Amino acid sequence: MKAEKKILPDSASLITAAAEHFVATARAAIAKRGVFYVALAGGSTPKGLYQKLATSPYLEQIDWARVHLFFGDERCVAPTHDDSNFKMARTAMIDLIPIPAANVHRMPTESGEPAEVAKRYAETMQTVMDGAAFDLLLLGLGPDGHIASLFPETPALDVTDSLTAHLYVEKFDSWRVTMTYPVINAARQVIVFIAGEAKAAIVNDITTEAVTGLPVQRLAPENDYYWFMDKAAAGQ
Ligand code: 6PG
Repeated sequence: MKAEKKILPDSASLITAAAEHFVATARAAIAKRGVFYVALAGGSTPKGLYQKLATSPYLEQIDWARVHLFFGDERCVAPTHDDSNFKMARTAMIDLIPIPAANVHRMPTESGEPAEVAKRYAETMQTVMDGAAFDLLLLGLGPDGHIASLFPETPALDVTDSLTAHLYVEKFDSWRVTMTYPVINAARQVIVFIAGEAKAAIVNDITTEAVTGLPVQRLAPENDYYWFMDKAAAGQ
């Protein structure tokens, strides 16, 4: 399914539009099914969105007790490490919203080997969601076209029999754990959230298909699929 593109004038309006969309999606899911399952993106781009969600009026518009927060991927570092996606989300939003601690499902990166972390996280997803799909799955876009920690030319791209995968990312000299395409594609809604001029080149390569087969291009969401970006990332 092709993505519907939402292009906003600048990063501030992008964050506001994404926060409004996040709230609307959360409220609709909670009204319909009594729960909102969301997987957060890591990296730096979504930090402003998370900060916005922790402020009025967005903070009060979501029944956080009915939200379950997961992470699309994580670096295999301690949750207190500056590279941790959990730490980024915790400081930007989680510590500032009334969400039950039991509803925040970080990847247990301190629990040992990456393979064990991936296995445990898949079990947690299964136990908490009981086979339900994510209501919203947020992704960032790397300059090489990766999403979550599905990096080009890695075996994680080909995992179809598990909800998670673990991989060593040579260029970052780091181990990662990531959700896999089956989970991402099955989400009720996928948003790729892109901001800044630094992403204009990869967005252009993808849009013009100057490059093909990138991890983000192998996405095939079965349901709603959006690209939220600012004009700088869209090359406008
Ligand atoms: C991570 C992310 C990764 C990120 C992209 C974009 O753990 O780094 O999950 O997929 O979303 O690399 O990162 P920026 O938002 O920092 O550009």
